[in-house]
Amino acid sequence: MLIIENQNYEAMSKKAAEHIIERVKQNPFLNLGLATGGTPQRMYEYLVEDYRKNGSDYQNVKCYNLDEYVGVSKDNKNSYYHYMKKNLYGHINIKEENTFIPNGMAKCLEHECREYEEKLTLSGGIDLQILGIGENGHIGFNEPGTPFNASTHIVQLDSSTRKANSRYFSTVEEVPTHAITMGLHSIMKSKEILLLVSGENKAEAFKQLTSGKITTDFPASILQNHKNVKVMECLGLNE
Ligand code: GLP
Repeated sequence: MLIIENQNYEAMSKKAAEHIIERVKQNPFLNLGLATGGTPQRMYEYLVEDYRKNGSDYQNVKCYNLDEYVGVSKDNKNSYYHYMKKNLYGHINIKEENTFIPNGMAKCLEHECREYEEKLTLSGGIDLQILGIGENGHIGFNEPGTPFNASTHIVQLDSSTRKANSRYFSTVEEVPTHAITMGLHSIMKSKEILLLVSGENKAEAFKQLTSGKITTDFPASILQNHKNVKVMECLGLNE
């Protein structure tokens, strides 16, 4: 696990974007795993700025998202589908058919999980997986207690996760209770992982991630067993 310290949130976001741009240049057919939440937002802005200025080419890139809320339709402003469209997909030349996000409105959620996992397998695997991390150590929506061998599955969100994510909703009650998430095993199959952690509120999570015990009580700890993880941190205030 390589830890890359950054001066501030701005510098971390820029460096993370540059890493993705570099990988896309090296492999125009990159399978890119993407995360949502507050942390990667400035990184996405840098990717869009780079696309507008330098014309980085995403036409053959495939993007797979970690997770999506259950019961939230694509056009709901709080869906991760909407988040990705607003923050990235709507601004670069990626093809819609090359963007994959679990369908939280699927009639049979179990079937959707199996199908999504199948898509990941048939893709040849994620080349570069971008991650954030929740304060309780969740990655994607893999909450504490998730088995390390889990593939894509339905999860009941922890109250702490719903509370943390309620800042995007009018009330915490509005935050969905369940989601579909790539499992820890799905994530661990990625060839390379870049995890972004920012803000004083993530200092404890960073400590457990990088030097804590490997335990399902803190899902992100399994990343210590991955041979190619870079952790980009800026644990000062979000600038
Ligand atoms: C959500 C997402 C995670 C993300 C986490 C932290 O739970 N499913 O992928 O890492 O929030 O988000 P933030 O970066 O806003 O702290």
